[in-house]
Amino acid sequence: MPQFYASCPKGMAEIVEQELQEMGFETWEKTSGGVMFESNWEGCYKANLNSRYASRILKPLLDFPAYQNDELYNHIRKHDFTKYIDPTQTLAIDVVVKDCMLHDQRFVAMKIKDAIVDQFRDKFGVRPDVDSKNPHLRIHVRGVKDQFSVSLDTSGDSLFMRGYRQATGEAPIKENLAAGLIGLSGWDKKTSLVDLFCGSGTLLIEAAMMALNIAPGMQRKKFGFFNLKDFDQAAWDRVIEEAVSKETEELDFKFYGNDIDKKVLDVAKRNAKNAGVAEFIEFNRVPVATALPPEEKCMVICNPPYGSRIGDEDNLKDVYRDLGFTLKHRFNGCEAWVLSGNAELLKEMKLKSTRRHFVFNGNIECRFLKYEMYEGSHRKTPLNKLRETAFKPTGMQE
Ligand SMILES: C[S@@+](CC[C@H](N)C(=O)[O-])C[C@H]1O[C@@H](n2cnc3c(N)ncnc32)[C@H](O)[C@@H]1O
Repeated sequence: MPQFYASCPKGMAEIVEQELQEMGFETWEKTSGGVMFESNWEGCYKANLNSRYASRILKPLLDFPAYQNDELYNHIRKHDFTKYIDPTQTLAIDVVVKDCMLHDQRFVAMKIKDAIVDQFRDKFGVRPDVDSKNPHLRIHVRGVKDQFSVSLDTSGDSLFMRGYRQATGEAPIKENLAAGLIGLSGWDKKTSLVDLFCGSGTLLIEAAMMALNIAPGMQRKKFGFFNLKDFDQAAWDRVIEEAVSKETEELDFKFYGNDIDKKVLDVAKRNAKNAGVAEFIEFNRVPVATALPPEEKCMVICNPPYGSRIGDEDNLKDVYRDLGFTLKHRFNGCEAWVLSGNAELLKEMKLKSTRRHFVFNGNIECRFLKYEMYEGSHRKTPLNKLRETAFKPTGMQE
């Protein structure tokens, strides 16, 4: 049985492993960057279509030590790459090297490209061109301490590109990270979810797709494996059919997205519509300082701004203070999960977290913290009274 590797953002490997097992795969080794699993090619198609958390599904091909150019070239030549694409198609080589004698990534990529295209020239008299943006075949190479692993990328574009998000606000999170946060929070898929800083709506859209069992890759126009010579259309049709048969159309709870920025809320609405989940999400222009729980029992999940420029921190302190105050005094009985890349700002919330995960948003290490607001500890006023007396800045509420 062939082996595949599901790569993922750091901090997500455990839930990727669990997700693959729930899809019926046997999982093997797990590293901080992904999980190895066993599957036939139909299973590879299935993982590509259904994984909410993985970034890519790779097919490992070669693993070898190399200290010099010729060694690298000769190892690559041993594997027949002409079985994957035609010489008229294009390829790209993505290389990452760390602590290797062959330390120049561009040079390594060029050597590997030569070893592959020479095979085509010898066999067909023609060689495939390189297209780094939109190739038919993408090869991933990772060299660590002179040990090189070479994999075929079966996904093509990274799997976070679901296809529903044509625009974003500032600092959006990737779709697979958003789904991963929902997975890590342990949300039960039956409690209403509130995002107090929803931006382009990614967290709520991913959660709604999860609750409705809509496969995350359903709207993608292409996957890398479509271009492979032995792509099995009948197997792909079965995978799609199975995913469609699992979709549901009704939910008896809702999703609520707040943001202070009207423009980004319009983007969120469009994205939700594209994803086919607009009817389940209510978006409102509400600053966190005046936010109220839309229902007596709900779960909050959010990603407040954490800035990266000098001076940002001072400006954002008030936002985190408001978030802490709002949760503590109005969201009693609710659980909240907050993602932030700035530990100092999180302290401004003045709440004690009860669980934490470390995850990477790109290359920023973030904390994903859980806060439990106990029932009745602070809110003496019933929710309906709070709503009547709530401060509504003019022109804010939609
Ligand atoms: C990091 S972004 C959220 C990104 C979102 N998760 C996404 O994927 O698009 C933070 C959002 O908080 C909003 N925001 C900033 N200050 C706010 C406040 N006081 N109340 C509510 N929203 C605020 C910004 O407009 C921005 O959309």
